[in-house]
Amino acid sequence: MADQNTPPTAQLAHATLHDQVSSSQVSKAEFSDRVLIRSIVSRPDGGAGLAGQRLRIGGWVKTGRKADKDAFAFLELNDGSCPGNLQVIVEADKADLGQLVPTGTCVSVDGLLKLPPAGTKQKVELRVENVLHVGPVDPARYPLPKTRLTLEFLRDFVHLRPRTNTISAVARIRNALAFATHTFFQKHGFLYVHTPIITTSDCEGAGEMFQVTTLISEAEKLEKELIKNPPPSESDIEAAKLVVKEKGEIVSKLKSDKASKGEIGASVNVLKKAKENLLKLEERSKLKPGIPQKDGTIDYSQDFFARQAFLTVSGQLQVESFACALSSVYTFGPTFRAEHSHTSRHLAEFWMVEPEIAFADLNDDMNCAEAYVKFLCQWLLDNCLEDMKFMADKFDKSCIDRLRMVSSTPFERITYTKAVELLEEAVKKGKVFDNKVEWGIDLSSEHERYLTEVKFQKPVIVYNYPKGIKAFYMRLNDDSKTVAAMDVLVPRVGELIGGSQREERYDVIQSRIEEMGLPVEPYEWYLDLRRFGTVKHSGFGLGFERMLLFATGIDNIRDVIPFPRYPGRADL
Ligand code: 4AD
Ligand code: MG
Repeated sequence: MADQNTPPTAQLAHATLHDQVSSSQVSKAEFSDRVLIRSIVSRPDGGAGLAGQRLRIGGWVKTGRKADKDAFAFLELNDGSCPGNLQVIVEADKADLGQLVPTGTCVSVDGLLKLPPAGTKQKVELRVENVLHVGPVDPARYPLPKTRLTLEFLRDFVHLRPRTNTISAVARIRNALAFATHTFFQKHGFLYVHTPIITTSDCEGAGEMFQVTTLISEAEKLEKELIKNPPPSESDIEAAKLVVKEKGEIVSKLKSDKASKGEIGASVNVLKKAKENLLKLEERSKLKPGIPQKDGTIDYSQDFFARQAFLTVSGQLQVESFACALSSVYTFGPTFRAEHSHTSRHLAEFWMVEPEIAFADLNDDMNCAEAYVKFLCQWLLDNCLEDMKFMADKFDKSCIDRLRMVSSTPFERITYTKAVELLEEAVKKGKVFDNKVEWGIDLSSEHERYLTEVKFQKPVIVYNYPKGIKAFYMRLNDDSKTVAAMDVLVPRVGELIGGSQREERYDVIQSRIEEMGLPVEPYEWYLDLRRFGTVKHSGFGLGFERMLLFATGIDNIRDVIPFPRYPGRADL
């Protein structure tokens, strides 16, 4: 019977694989006329039990070589469904072998699965009977030859790097973590809410927002247009005014002469046209090149949203409005920060998972964060072991043990004050940090990593931080010095999660906004949540790419997101 703790989908995946082992039939991929390579080589028997079957596969050549005086070619084929390749053997009469063997070539073939000769590493191989498609590669021009390439080099080819073993394994692990995230929160009764990408409130109040504006492109367009079609001159307008006057006089004259209705109507129309023309000229004469200004500053009332707008740094504030109605909610989406940090832990665009729980205090919040991280780790062990083994082999020997440890060990929980004491103790014993340790500092990555990697050797939740270093929305503790904030620190990464109990008292949060020098107006709606039906509530944000760094052991955050954005770089 399936383990009670195993998530339902994991049970499903296992069941499917199990059924396939006991059957000697392999099922076709859905919505595509072929068999996934995973359903052959990822079986516990490596596909041996399927020998004798005829099937169709497709994939890209990892390595290819001709053999036996070019009588046939061996291709290692991968279709991204798993880390493993299928060995494919093509005879010279089936295709132009020279065209098949370059790394990166796409092929689709029909063939017969056979047991390979004893002593080879494959459990099964495909003898090709018919070549259906070849997407050739000119090896002289293909940027990703089969030699081992550094992850840094691959960042110049973000559109081709998914074909490498590492980036495809990361993509599958990332997908699994996203699925696990929805599974966890849905299982616990949380509602998925889509918070806006474009926002007018700065959640963290740190001024690290990218602005969203059409003022610049509009100004550019106008500038070009004015060069092509110069605005009317004073005399053009005077002339148009004169025409209006003349046409007006004609209408008056016809009226006093008691001319026919038809005649008067026609001249009124002519007058109308002259007035319209004048209006148009006057409007155009007001057009000025450049960004519109008012009272010496940029006039955002003329911008797309008629006010200043930004890309969100966090969906928290908006998701709080749903928590204060639907109780347990979460948002999971891209967030943007215009910080100029060139570190291996920061991106300008990253994904964040942000649950928000009503009727929950900081302790509930920490319990949720711990359960969620444990769930993610266990999920990878249950569903992504092949890819994790690849990571252990290539990047970080201890990554699987780390997942096991985190999924089964209670997290340490210490106050910020205690954390500083422990760091000070370490300094006394000779530990050298680049950044000074004293109560009130923002813990830096080296401090966080000392606590989780050296001192406790497991995840640590630090809580009750000094209010001076945390955001305005965090609940002020009774000591008036600290806020009910918590950060989850994990080995290799440092801060994985940042969260807090939210300040639900109207007076307190209002004075916190003012105290921090933030404008109150953009937060009026947020204050409404406290004015009307306020409730104790808490939440946190998990940096999705940080979770991937932690899980895979990859060093740089730019390699765990499909299309990294950081200062100076936004390819594709
Ligand atoms: O600690 P942060 O700034 O918290 C918030 O944004 C809260 N509004 C979350 C909430 O309570 N709902 O960010 C949360 C997490 C960090 O712990 C870190 O893992 C990640 O987001 N993070 C980044 N990841 C990659 N690149 C960056 N520039 C990041 N900044 C934060
Ligand atoms: Mg933080």
